[in-house]
Amino acid sequence: MTKVFKVALLPGDGIGPEVMVEALRVMDAIEKKYDVRFERTHANVGGAGIDNEGKALPESTVNICKAADAILFGSVGGPKWESLPPDERPERGALLPLRQIFGLYANLRPAIVFPSMTSASSLKEEIVAGGFNVMVVRELTGGIYFTQPKGIEGEGRNRIGIDTLHYSVPEIERIAHVAFVAARRRSKKVCSVDKANVLSSSVLWREIVTGISKEYPDVELSHMYVDNAAMQLVRRPKQFDVILCENMFGDILSDEAAMLTGSLGMLPSSSLAEGTFGMYEPSGGSAPDIAGQGIANPIAQILSTAMMLRYSFAMEEAANLIEKAVETVLEQGYRTIDIFQNRNGERLVDTKEMGEAIVKQIEAQPA
Ligand code: IPM
Ligand code: MG
Repeated sequence: MTKVFKVALLPGDGIGPEVMVEALRVMDAIEKKYDVRFERTHANVGGAGIDNEGKALPESTVNICKAADAILFGSVGGPKWESLPPDERPERGALLPLRQIFGLYANLRPAIVFPSMTSASSLKEEIVAGGFNVMVVRELTGGIYFTQPKGIEGEGRNRIGIDTLHYSVPEIERIAHVAFVAARRRSKKVCSVDKANVLSSSVLWREIVTGISKEYPDVELSHMYVDNAAMQLVRRPKQFDVILCENMFGDILSDEAAMLTGSLGMLPSSSLAEGTFGMYEPSGGSAPDIAGQGIANPIAQILSTAMMLRYSFAMEEAANLIEKAVETVLEQGYRTIDIFQNRNGERLVDTKEMGEAIVKQIEAQPA
């Protein structure tokens, strides 16, 4: 019997809608290859939510997401909405509530340099030769982002800005499991990042992660202070496999890791709830400067779709097929403008041509 999965499509702003079109093309191709149907419903989010329904995350969108098996998200934000109060802006007004409402506590952010793409990295060729593949596993619903109390109190120069940071044992346990399970499918190494020389929450973090590691004797665990981790990432990124972080450290290190690949437009991410529900989105932003021109790189959105198949729909084989197709197309020299270096064998393509090339590869490969 044909499997049916419901997908809430939230293209958002900037290049979001354009790259989403290519992800849909890929979903069509997967439907043709496997006995599966993706029932898709569009909803407004971010600036599109503000303009059309008065809110970055409209009720109707929340309801569509609740009825779905997964959310495929584009990107949100742009100069048009920058003068709004921070809470109402597309980024915070949509992303933080979505994470909270759906309990998306586990954020997986791979940073991959494909062997054919090492010259795009901001690091010296000798440091990245052969490529690297790091996965940041970031706790996403706790820590300083969400702990109360929070806010600005007092008057005038006597005001103080307050943020609170705590982590409970269950919060640490569940994200640690995600990191160890992810490492098992990869190179079996977890580096847990903390600031245990200063923060109590980090002391507890280190203790709990160490305890959980006993359940994964096949995975090697190391600990690193966050300042050192930031340094090691640019010094020798290949030493890392899975990097496990609390919310804010993960925010910072995942941007650093992403930039090292030199191709932000290619990186997907997933934010997972307990069970199989998840939200999948490109790591990069809405790139308003190139929006509407049909030149954005759709690879991050397409690889996010692959992650959705893997983590929410248990379609590992189809996910691998998509990833393989992307890799092949890159080897063949297809480049959107963001990764085009005018080297031998490179071929400059637009959003649609890149999407079509990937679909062609999917169709060509044996299922
Ligand atoms: C991210 C972003 C968000 C975060 C912002 C937009 C709230 O930087 O997804 O990394 O800090 O988590
Ligand atoms: Mg960030």
